[in-house]
Amino acid sequence: MSVFITGASSGIGAACAKAFAAIGHDLVLVARRADRLEVLATELKAQYRVGVETFVLDVRKRKDVELLVSENLPTFKKVEILLNNAGLAKGLSTSQAGDPDEWDLMIDTNIKGLLYVSRAIFPLLIERGGGHVINMGSVAGRWSYPKGNVYCATKAAIKVLSESMRVDLHGTGVRVTEVAPGMVETEFAEVRFSGDKKQAKQVYQGLTPLSADDIAEIVIWCAKRPAHVNIQEVVVFPTAQSSVHLVDRKTS
Ligand SMILES: NC(=O)c1ccc[n+]([C@@H]2O[C@H](COP(=O)([O-])OP(=O)(O)OC[C@H]3O[C@@H](n4cnc5c(N)ncnc54)[C@H](OP(=O)(O)O)[C@@H]3O)[C@@H](O)[C@H]2O)c1
Repeated sequence: MSVFITGASSGIGAACAKAFAAIGHDLVLVARRADRLEVLATELKAQYRVGVETFVLDVRKRKDVELLVSENLPTFKKVEILLNNAGLAKGLSTSQAGDPDEWDLMIDTNIKGLLYVSRAIFPLLIERGGGHVINMGSVAGRWSYPKGNVYCATKAAIKVLSESMRVDLHGTGVRVTEVAPGMVETEFAEVRFSGDKKQAKQVYQGLTPLSADDIAEIVIWCAKRPAHVNIQEVVVFPTAQSSVHLVDRKTS
C-alpha cells in the first residue's frame, strides 16, 4: 500500500513524503518540477528503503491526470492514502483590481486540479474497500483576509468539497480529512509574490510560523488513527497568529 502526494516537490508535500517514508510507506509523488522530485525520491529511497515512484504532472491538465492514472493502474491501485496538497496563491489584490489570469491559475490548480485527481483515484479506493483522502485546506478558507479573495475562495471550496466527499463516499470505508493550516513557512509566499524573496520573507518576519514538518506530523497523526476513526478537520495556527487578522510580530 502506498501514499500518493500531489505537490510533493516542495514545502508541505515534500515534508509529508519524508514523514510517510520514515514510517515505511511506499510513495507516489507528483508535481511539475521533475528535478526536485528526483532529488527527493533518491534521498528517501536511500534513507528509508521505501519504494518511490515519481511522475511529472500538472494537476490542471485533466487529460494528463486521467492518462497518468489509467496508464499506471498497477501503481495507483496500490494507493491507500491520497494527499491532495498541490496548490498555490498568486498575487494579493482587491477584487476590483485583481488579475483574472491569477484567479484562473488559483481556481484551476486548487479546485479543479484537486477534483481531477480525486475523480481519477476515488474509484480505485472504493474498489479496494477503503482508504484515506487528506485535502490540504487553509484557515484562508474559513476567514477571508484583506486582498485574499480568490485564494480564500478556493480554500473555502476545499472545505466544502471535503464535506461533500465524505457524504459521497459514505459507506465505502474511505475516510476524508481536511487539514487547514495558518502561516507555514514554505515556498508558498515566494510563489505568491512571483519569486520576490524579500517580500516573501516579510510575511514571516518577527514570528515563529508553522513549519512544513509541523503539518506533516498532523497529517501522519490523522492517517494513523484506527480505521473506524475519521478526523474530519484540523485547523492549526502558529501560536503567534491568533486569527488571520491578528499576528504577534516581535520587532527588535
Ligand atoms: N504555506 C502556507 O502558509 C499554507 C497555509 C495553508 C495552506 N497551504 C496549502 O498547502 C499546500 C502546499 O503549499 P506549500 O505551503 O507547501 O507551498 P509550496 O512550497 O509552494 O508547495 C506547493 C506545491 O504545489 C505544487 N504545485 C503547484 N501547482 C501545481 C500544479 N499545477 N500541478 C502540480 N503541482 C503543483 C508545487 O510543485 P511544482 O511547482 O513543482 O509543480 C509544490 O510542490 C497548498 O495547497 C497551499 O495552499 C499553505
